[in-house]
Amino acid sequence: MKVLVIGSGGREHALVWKLKQSPSVTHLYCAPGNAGIGLDCDNVEITATDIPRLIKFATKEQIDLTVVGPEAPLVLGIVDQFQKAGLRVFGPSQRAAELEGSKKFAKEMMRKANVPTADFRVFTNAAEAMSYIDERDPGDRFVIKADGLAAGKGVTVCSNNEEARDAIKRMLLHHEFGDAGARIVIEDRLEGEEASLLAFVDGNTIVPLEAAQDHKAAHDGDTGPNTGGMGAYSPTPIVTPEIVDLVIEKILIPIVHEMNKEGRPFRGCLYAGIMLTNQGPRVLEFNVRLGDPETQAVLMRLKSDLALTMFAAADGKLDQIEPLEWDPRPALCVVMASGGYPGDYEKGMPIRGLDEAALVPETKVFHAGTKLVGGQIVNDGGRVLGVTAIGNTISEAKLRAYQAVKCIRWDGAWCRKDISDKANRY
Ligand code: AMP
Ligand code: GLY
Repeated sequence: MKVLVIGSGGREHALVWKLKQSPSVTHLYCAPGNAGIGLDCDNVEITATDIPRLIKFATKEQIDLTVVGPEAPLVLGIVDQFQKAGLRVFGPSQRAAELEGSKKFAKEMMRKANVPTADFRVFTNAAEAMSYIDERDPGDRFVIKADGLAAGKGVTVCSNNEEARDAIKRMLLHHEFGDAGARIVIEDRLEGEEASLLAFVDGNTIVPLEAAQDHKAAHDGDTGPNTGGMGAYSPTPIVTPEIVDLVIEKILIPIVHEMNKEGRPFRGCLYAGIMLTNQGPRVLEFNVRLGDPETQAVLMRLKSDLALTMFAAADGKLDQIEPLEWDPRPALCVVMASGGYPGDYEKGMPIRGLDEAALVPETKVFHAGTKLVGGQIVNDGGRVLGVTAIGNTISEAKLRAYQAVKCIRWDGAWCRKDISDKANRY
């Protein structure tokens, strides 16, 4: 079959790498891809949100399966439009993608489905939001979230009411996130460890993937500003089989059922961001796509045929596939970022040492923000590479990944040094 992956990040490179291993895949394309993706399949110069051109390409090339990586085209309705054009596509419809596109919608669905999550209120008026905070107990802590998509930057976790007021002002008065922040959700702040549980869903059947843990803070020890994710590992010891069962029973099944009741059946990858609190798992967010960088670590452990699995999910036939098979060995992804990220950074720096890194056993360097300029691979984004390795133990995987990291250089390159160390705390 001919497969098209849409997107240009590390997640899409991992998808391409894994799909390429499927014996059933004869041709593989990625739009628009990046320098590393271009080494593993054919890049197509169409951006991920240019839906009419993507449809034209998929129709002309007779693509059998399109896999949508990022949330932006999903929220724009790429799946509905592909289906209308008679094209098979892996991902949720526009109405189902609202689970990620609107925090208010997601929270209301969770409330209806009785899915455990932090208490919340929705505001569009700054004065009303401020009084809500002032009227609560002085010890209460809040998280302020822009309702719409804000490239992962729309959430402020507040340590005191001053920070909460400031976040309300930035969103509702100074319109820092434009329309995405014209409505906000104020949630109670939860405490605990975070984990990501992803599942393939075909509207009815839910096939969970192995759990992973992301590292969202920029610096070691989970300090510094929030990022898109600086590394991930899978499996994670905090997500025991009992917790997986709880998440399936209390979170995934009820939400998939509720989406059906609402006439918004969910097909694609449902990503539950979970806080493991003393009272049990609570949902922090739903995403309607695979996670980045969780995908890089998780797919390195997947032994089953990804193309056939996604094909079945797109056709509503996940009940007909064999259970997914996993490599029991742990995998880990270290993100190498541009100097200055998550703030401003310079692009166009030549990246050296990729050939040397490729020699490290059981390791793959996934490209996230890279570009080919005059035959030279240069950095072209904040998160640049996802150096991913598998090993008999988490320490062996970590050793390999950092050995490959050491080979790679460009001006300003940096990474966290402690990816997966959280695993040792349990
Ligand atoms: P979200 O995009 O909603 O997942 O939020 C991004 C990050 O903010 C999460 O990964 C958590 O680290 C943090 N966060 C979100 N909601 C809460 C909450 N209710 N309590 C504590 N931290 C939260
Ligand atoms: N790793 C976080 C995300 O994909 O949203």
